[in-house]
This record gives sequence, structure tokens and C-alpha cells, in this order.
Amino acid sequence: MGDNNATKDYWDASLYDGKHAFVSNFGNDVIKLLDAKKGERILDLGCGTGDLAHSLTEMGVTVVGFDKSKNMIDQAKAKYPNIVFGVSDATELDYQNEFDAVFSNAVLHWVKPPKQALQSIYQTLKPKGRFVAEFGGKGNVKIITDEILNQFKSYEINFSDEQFPWYFPSIGQYSTLMEEVGFRVMHAQHFDRPTPLDGEHGLRNWLEMFSGGMFEGISNELKNEIFNKIETNVRETLYLDGCWFADYKRIRVIGVK
Ligand code: BEZ
Repeated sequence: MGDNNATKDYWDASLYDGKHAFVSNFGNDVIKLLDAKKGERILDLGCGTGDLAHSLTEMGVTVVGFDKSKNMIDQAKAKYPNIVFGVSDATELDYQNEFDAVFSNAVLHWVKPPKQALQSIYQTLKPKGRFVAEFGGKGNVKIITDEILNQFKSYEINFSDEQFPWYFPSIGQYSTLMEEVGFRVMHAQHFDRPTPLDGEHGLRNWLEMFSGGMFEGISNELKNEIFNKIETNVRETLYLDGCWFADYKRIRVIGVK
């Protein structure tokens, strides 16, 4: 799922499954927080290639998975033909009072405007339904993104704040938005999770997979040159004992309608 205004599908579903399986792996902790009960109807918002939706169905839950990326949804349908998947933006879910829970892992930092997404989530839930989510919080991947912006500056590439693709709120900011749309905030947490990136090219693969939107209009040649400089400049901080780490900071929330 992505920016409300973005039209290009940057997601490479095979690269995601091959090199970024950690996204779903960490999601298992959020599934524990969801505490799904047999027979519940749950919407997986930003389901990617469907692995967590599949884990939920194995708990006896009926799941509907949505993602903004058609590439991801095509792969999810091919992997798990018995689960219902669809393409939708998080801000435009077309349900009223239907789900016991909305679950979302590692997605809502892509979604703007965040309040519109919360309104859309709120409306899909049954009364007393719960919203359980984890995504990037304040300061997320700051070492990486500061260095991208630093490189743009040194190459005199114009980049405005509005072009920054992500929304990384504090729990204060996000809980306030949740309350404004009607949720009772039962849980809110902000924590560091340095995230290992697979292999010697781990950081480069992360940049390729996730930061494509920031490099729109920049030639592949220049992009690669910038990636090399980023790797050099952040190596001392993010390459530890032979492994790249992304400086993830997450927020987790539970809200009840
Ligand atoms: C995240 O999961 O925190 C994330 C992923 C890609 C880009 C930015 C943040």
C-alpha cells in the first residue's frame, strides 16, 4: 500500500518475498498482539504477498487481505488461492461495521493522509471492533534517510518535505488522531528495533526495494553512485559484526471502536 497520490506500483513482489521476508517474520509478534479468536472476521490492511493473512486463516479466522500494490496482490492470490485478496488504498476501504478487527503490519507509514486512513479503518469495524497495528514511528530509518537527503543536497537535487514518502508519527501524535476519529486507545508503544538486512548488499537491497519513490527522475547510473556513497557514509553506524542493520523504530497501537 502506498501514498494516496502515488500511481506507480514500485513493489517487486519477488524481491519482497526473497530478500525482505523479515517484514512478515516480525509481523508474527503483531499477530500475538491481535490475539485473534476462532471464527472472527479480520481485515489485513497492507497484506503484501499474504503470509500473515495465511497465518491468521490457520488460526480459524476468516481473513480478507487488501494492499494498494497490484503486484503484491497478484502474488498473494497465486500463493494462497483460498484467501480473498483485493487491491485498495487504506484511505478508501469500502466496508461499514463488518470486521471484528483490522490488523496492519509495516504499512501505515506509507499512507497519507493518516487521519483519512483511520476514518476508513474505523468505519469498517463493528462496534467494539479493534484496530491493531505496527508501523514506523518517529525517528524511523533516520540514519538512512538523513544520508539520502544529505546526498541529494551535495548533488544539488531538489527534494521537498512533501516528497518524503513516509509518515513516522510519535505515539502522542498518532494516539491523538486515533481519538479524534473515535477510537479508545488501549495500547501505544514506541520502541527501537534495529533490523538485520540480509547479506553484504543488504542496505543496497533495502534502498532498491523501499526508497525507489525518492529517486524518481534520477538515472540508474546516478542512483547507483548515490547508493555507493550512502553505503560508505553509514557503514560505521549501520554495519555491525559483518551485518547491515536498518535503524527501525516502531510504534504499536491498539484502538477499540
Ligand atoms: C518500515 O517498515 O519501517 C519501513 C519500510 C520501508 C521504508 C520505510 C520504513
